[in-house]
Amino acid sequence: MMQMNNLTNKRILLGVTGGIAAYKSAELVRRLREQGAEVRVVMTRGACEFITPLTMQALSGREVHTELLDHVAESGQGGGMGHIELARWCDVVLVAPASANFIARLSHGMADDLLSTLCLATTAPVVIAPAMNQQMWMNIATQENIATLGQREIRIAGPAEGEQACGEIGPGRMLEPEQLILETSQLFSTGILADLKIVVTAGPTREAIDPVRYITNHSSGQMGYAVARAAAEAGADVTLVSGPVSIEPPRQVRHISVDTADQMRDAVMSDIITSDIFVAAAAVADYRCADVAEQKIKKKSEDLQLLLQKNPDILAEVASLPQGPFTVGFAAETENLLDNARIKLQNKKLDMIAANQVGEGLGFNTDENELQVFWQAGEQGQNNQTGKNQTRENQTIKHQTLERAPKEKLARHLIKVIANHYYEKYSAQTH
Ligand code: C5P
Repeated sequence: MMQMNNLTNKRILLGVTGGIAAYKSAELVRRLREQGAEVRVVMTRGACEFITPLTMQALSGREVHTELLDHVAESGQGGGMGHIELARWCDVVLVAPASANFIARLSHGMADDLLSTLCLATTAPVVIAPAMNQQMWMNIATQENIATLGQREIRIAGPAEGEQACGEIGPGRMLEPEQLILETSQLFSTGILADLKIVVTAGPTREAIDPVRYITNHSSGQMGYAVARAAAEAGADVTLVSGPVSIEPPRQVRHISVDTADQMRDAVMSDIITSDIFVAAAAVADYRCADVAEQKIKKKSEDLQLLLQKNPDILAEVASLPQGPFTVGFAAETENLLDNARIKLQNKKLDMIAANQVGEGLGFNTDENELQVFWQAGEQGQNNQTGKNQTRENQTIKHQTLERAPKEKLARHLIKVIANHYYEKYSAQTH
């Protein structure tokens, strides 16, 4: 089957309810994983009558979740995930098959088992793939429930028409795994940045001390890479300028590899004039050695002094361009997060800044993060005839928290926020 790419690293929570089509869910898990997705399976009691959790565990490579009141998982012990963790973890909930009974319970907002509770607790999109006898599907009760779910932006995938397990012919067959994969992957292709060009920096920089040593930091590049991937999925033309990291670049982006802050600056500046958005997620070294030793420095004296000099501030330079792009900075802070972020937003004259606390399992080199986003809001359109470098006296700083989530999910959230503010600014300037 063709690799569709945009399920790479996506976290799919597959809900399986009681119906004969549950046997196809086993194939679905295998195919989703072939596409690069991570899959966790939640089964209802009914589902366990048709297919065993063991099958799903073997195929997903993960423990299968069946109980709402799992004391071990809810306590966070033994590596288990409680219902809130699962709801937060997933990028999408796909319920396949979705029985008539499950659809009825979902439409009424029931939370009497793990799967229905998760559907209420998640902010991720929910897709359901109905599968049932054709009369049950056509029954007015089911149709009304489906209409209710549609109004709540729950996506209904299928059902297909054809021969049914009960021998009847009509609508009610679950869509085939390939079709469900296609519908799921389309969720990530939002098109909200279509026709826009975006440059993203990521990773640390490496500043040489001598031919074998360098100054660097703990940045893994994960956040910047996730932003680049999310931007590409949103339809943007993406250039990712990256310092040395050990992760693979997303396939859909132009990838430029650099070592030093100077090289990063040159790569960014050569591409920036034609760009619409700049996201600086790199942890650029603030200083480099004033003189890089030509030979390896020998250990002779008790003390060694290195004279450092300031690196170019790439973000500030881009933000000061007269016709520059919409600029988004990052601020990784160990203290006074909110104040420091506000100050950086103003001093560097940015359009937006995303701040995160580093340390204690957050920030650098971790899978999860939480972002505090600040942006300039106000009478920009009326006051700012010469571009964004004029004073922003009549502007206020607004703030939004992007709740703790895996970085890939957080990056998609951030791209939505960036797109909203980019269009807001653009429309303010054209009116
Ligand atoms: O001032 P500070 O380094 O904390 O600002 C962080 C933000 O500035 C990040 O977005 C980072 O990518 C960017 N930056 C930069 N060039 C530098 C230093 C920081 O682009 N030399």
